[in-house]
Amino acid sequence: SRSLIIAIDGPAASGKGTLARRLADYYHLPHLDTGLTYRAVAHMLLTKGWPLDDEAHAIEAARLVDLGHLDREGLSAHTVADAASRVAVIAEVRRILVDKQRAFADRDGGAVLDGRDIGTVVCPEAEVKLYVTASAEVRAMRRLRDIEGRGGKADFDEILSDIKLRDERDMGRTDSPLKPAADAHLLDTSEMSIETAFIAAKAIIDDAI
Ligand code: C5P
Repeated sequence: SRSLIIAIDGPAASGKGTLARRLADYYHLPHLDTGLTYRAVAHMLLTKGWPLDDEAHAIEAARLVDLGHLDREGLSAHTVADAASRVAVIAEVRRILVDKQRAFADRDGGAVLDGRDIGTVVCPEAEVKLYVTASAEVRAMRRLRDIEGRGGKADFDEILSDIKLRDERDMGRTDSPLKPAADAHLLDTSEMSIETAFIAAKAIIDDAI
């Protein structure tokens, strides 16, 4: 059977991760959340107390990233997310992680990958590319509900400014900035439930394959 690569990009808290997991499940494809690879590098630096702009150590950490051992729970803190967007500007870190991500995508049968540069850099030949967005306010509200749903507390304005800062960093960097690939399908989920977004994405994919 031919292999299907589904590339999903979008800003923080756009719902792309949830969508990617549901699509992977539906199409029986392995899924890689590439954000976890940048988070793993950041987490290693934070744990060792190394500065986030220490390129030599960041590169060493990137080499140690093992796609089979990415601990979603352990990497979920917003301090880790913020640190990830700082190590993600280091070109050599990106090169090393992109190699690992491509190896995952190139497996027989295909894969679903989500991140910031999947359609533009990691898998430019993907059969289907989705660019998932939502307004910053909607994304901040989703994140807040998510935190509160798990019994935590957070401040809407703080989350919103966090999200805007990370958008700026991800869209403004020179190496692999976040942007839709020329042939990406845009999916604005501001007014969509998870179910509606899934149905819309499925329609785009079934039409493309
Ligand atoms: O998707 P997630 O929020 O886990 O990503 C954390 C950070 O990792 C992003 O803000 C971004 O700076 C970086 N990242 C990236 N390229 C990817 C995935 C994530 O630069 N493909």
